Amino acid sequence: MGVDPARTERGGYGETLFEPWRPGEGERIDLGSLAYDGATRRRLLAVGAGPGTRCLEIGAGTGTIARWLAEEVGVAEVLAVDRDVRFLEPHTGGPLRTLAADVTAPDFEPGRFDLVHARFVLMHVPEHRRLAARLCGFLAPGGHLVLGDAVDLTSSAPPDTPYRQAMRAMWRALRETIGTDVTWTPQYPRLLAELGLTDVGAEITVPPLTADGPITAFWLDTWRRSRSAVLATGLVTPDRLVLAERALADGTAADLSPGLITAWGRRT
Ligand SMILES: C[S@@+](CC[C@H](N)C(=O)[O-])C[C@H]1O[C@@H](n2cnc3c(N)ncnc32)[C@H](O)[C@@H]1O
Repeated sequence: MGVDPARTERGGYGETLFEPWRPGEGERIDLGSLAYDGATRRRLLAVGAGPGTRCLEIGAGTGTIARWLAEEVGVAEVLAVDRDVRFLEPHTGGPLRTLAADVTAPDFEPGRFDLVHARFVLMHVPEHRRLAARLCGFLAPGGHLVLGDAVDLTSSAPPDTPYRQAMRAMWRALRETIGTDVTWTPQYPRLLAELGLTDVGAEITVPPLTADGPITAFWLDTWRRSRSAVLATGLVTPDRLVLAERALADGTAADLSPGLITAWGRRT
């Protein structure tokens, strides 16, 4: 899908589409964290995060995972990288340090970390394969790469409900404005195996779209913030979008949220 520069102002994640300078962007990211942190924490513990672990958290956002690693798991260090570190900076200190940088830029010595984690980041980065290979290079022997991203379970299939049309339009809008691509994320296990990692595994978490669920509030806010780009795709009409919002808000969408696919592998 090409980008129409007349219609959209293209930028990386957090530069234009979600209006990160407006109040509420931290809260929106936190809603996503509330929905998915349990699954991420379980996986990071399962691959061995614990006292002594040297961690690199890529695209750390508001830092719910970085802070948990530093404050509750008691790891040796967490370096949290994001181009927007304003949510992270108040929490730095002790084992938690921040680095304001593009995720594709930092260069660390090979084997510097025991755990490298990125969630909802590579899907927004056009050169995701190259970035995954770079992240592998930062792992010490025996260290783990854990990557999480969205998996779209509904938008390409019938029925053509307002919810599915809105989701389809949202993924198209993200693609056209940020370059987000979730079509490849089911290939994560293969990607990690091709990078030479062993003990590769993957799992999917799908939080329920209940009226009071944090993921429901997350999608409503995401649609609201990206509304003009969503409508500009022509894949959903304003009326259908309102119906989709209503169905989400009152818990009657009766459908699946996009899931979190978490994939992991170990460097030998
Ligand atoms: C959807 S948020 C996810 C935040 C966090 N990982 C989580 O799961 O809650 C994506 C984060 O990645 C950061 N990000 C995306 N692309 C980036 C890039 N190329 N360089 C630096 N940060 C980037 C954004 O600023 C944002 O904080």
